[in-house]
Amino acid sequence: MWSSTSRDDVDIDKIYSTKGRGETFAAILERRLNRRRLLEGGVAAAALVLTGSRIDAVRAQDATPVADASPGASPVASPVGSPVAGSSLTFSPIPASTADQLGVPAGYQAVPFLRWGDPITADAPEFDAANQSAAAQEVQFGYNCDFVGFLPLPLGSATSDNGLLVVNHEYTNSELMFAGYLSPNPATPEGGGTPVPEFLPNVTQEIVDVELAAHGLSVVEILRNEAGEWTVVRDSQYNRRLTGTTPMELTGPVAGVDLVKTTDDPTGMTVLGTLNNCAAGTTPWGTVLSGEENFNQYFGNLGALPADDPIRAHHERFGLIEGSSERRWEAFHDRFDVAKEPNEAFRFGWSVEIDPYEPTSTPKKRTAIGRFKHEAISSVIAPGGQVIFYSGDDQIFEYVYKFVSTGTYDPSDRAANMALLDDGVLYAAKFNDDGGGEWLPLVYGEGPLTEANGFASQADVLLNARGAGDAVGATKMDRPEDIEPSPVNGRIYINCTNNDQRGTAEGEEGANAANPRLENMHGHVIELIEDGGDQASLAFTWDLFIIAGDPADEATYFGGYPKEKVSAISSPDNMTFDAAGNLWLSTDGQPGKLNVNDGLFAVPVDGPERGYLRQFFSAVPGAEVSGPIFTPDNTSLFVAVQHPGEGGTLEAPLSRWPDDANMPRPSVVVIQAENGGRIGE
Ligand code: FEO
Ligand code: CA
Ligand code: CA
Repeated sequence: MWSSTSRDDVDIDKIYSTKGRGETFAAILERRLNRRRLLEGGVAAAALVLTGSRIDAVRAQDATPVADASPGASPVASPVGSPVAGSSLTFSPIPASTADQLGVPAGYQAVPFLRWGDPITADAPEFDAANQSAAAQEVQFGYNCDFVGFLPLPLGSATSDNGLLVVNHEYTNSELMFAGYLSPNPATPEGGGTPVPEFLPNVTQEIVDVELAAHGLSVVEILRNEAGEWTVVRDSQYNRRLTGTTPMELTGPVAGVDLVKTTDDPTGMTVLGTLNNCAAGTTPWGTVLSGEENFNQYFGNLGALPADDPIRAHHERFGLIEGSSERRWEAFHDRFDVAKEPNEAFRFGWSVEIDPYEPTSTPKKRTAIGRFKHEAISSVIAPGGQVIFYSGDDQIFEYVYKFVSTGTYDPSDRAANMALLDDGVLYAAKFNDDGGGEWLPLVYGEGPLTEANGFASQADVLLNARGAGDAVGATKMDRPEDIEPSPVNGRIYINCTNNDQRGTAEGEEGANAANPRLENMHGHVIELIEDGGDQASLAFTWDLFIIAGDPADEATYFGGYPKEKVSAISSPDNMTFDAAGNLWLSTDGQPGKLNVNDGLFAVPVDGPERGYLRQFFSAVPGAEVSGPIFTPDNTSLFVAVQHPGEGGTLEAPLSRWPDDANMPRPSVVVIQAENGGRIGE
């Protein structure tokens, strides 16, 4: 069986009981549906505030014929839904796939556009896999593309033919980048003993420096010609790489405090680099806010700090480890050695603002938004003019956050808008079982956030946002990843990827109404409605929109839509909306959960097809799909195929994509309709 939660081998009512109340999953759903009936009027009112001009007329278009673009075996049954007249989505869903090639519906093409190592400046060398250098990597496309943003040129326009592609490079798979990187560990014990890693990395200064240069972001100007083909403008003034060593400024309440001072930066104002940039979002003023996610993995030797050192407890809450880090950067750069530089890790885990329109600008780590494992940061302007930023902390049992600026948005003052990110209130979400919820302020001196509990300043609260969330009683979620406000209906959508650690044993965290499944293998999508349609509100209502998995599993739910028609989906991670307001979900985790490649799925959130989820795109083995984004005209869709072949080696590759070579290359893919029309319609 591919899933431990298949209905064949578990008692659904037992698994999905809410801890302590014995409420069945069916009861939770019934309650949810009753609440929805009550909320219908409120939803419509909220939508009126935000609808604006983004609703485009639904375009009638004949359905394209079904084609199997993914010839690989499909362990999950193919969906059989057919397009319904009046829907904005008319594509025929593709079956799930295990093939080492991309899959899209008939009438579409998916082309690898920017590969790891592609030169992105006029003087950058061509990729040379056997002779990589940090100097070359600093002007080539980085590794493991995640977020993709399309920012039109010029600034403020809505052009779809010319823009800046801003791409995050989350991390490196060194075992897939460098031949001979891993060697068998000679210390493997015979006949038991303490387990040790099976392989050890062969790390050199040059490898570490290539890895640092392969992290960060790329900014690349791209151009679409009359034939619809995209090219990189190699000599563009905007093209730039930001890496693990690019100087960045700390701003906001944490800038300059003692805990961010280091030997190299005694002022605590300038950090070298950004790391583990997962997803991101664009601001109303055309910058990108990128999330530093699993920053803990770059630091080694926490065990050198005394057990009673409060810094040690801080770092443990964020997952730093006692011994050597996996990549061993600390052997070549002291700042990654906690024994030598205990504060360096406090300088990561932030939201980083990058201005792609100003190629010499210094990126800013905006500390007022809090320090945690940021998946992404999306924004919206509230009716009162405040700018709201939503962000999830992507780890099991962590929190959903929002930041509300003190000042208000001024469409004529870009610099003043950027300063909004330094002054405001951070909140963590509490989801009540009755479908209501509260935003709990993380403000020094309020409630439990006092010196008696380890918070001596607002900087302390922000540095340890997780601890502050614990103290105020925020709701522990199932890995909240991308969170985005719909530009069409105004509701907020939250992807909870998965969490297989909820349980009912002594000491385990049980289920709650917003995270109703124990051993939540496949994740779910929450729909949140801010009170009065005002995103600055401190109260909200919420609902479960999708409970993911194989629709044959009775514990799944797809907005009430008939499940026999929907595609199987697991582990929703990133999201975007098309111009009609349909939600597009990309996944990270299907290979280990449904035994198929990760993909991209589209689902209407309103109307008669609410919940009719269909698979649009399939990636390749080992890869997750991230960063989906449309051009403003909806005729090009960029997605990132991240870590293709992960789990394999260069000697025994899981994937040869995209070059049919031993070395797979993470790449941004562009998807277009063969007739040049809008995607999905
Ligand atoms: Fe980097 Fe939350 O995925
Ligand atoms: Ca992600
Ligand atoms: Ca993920």
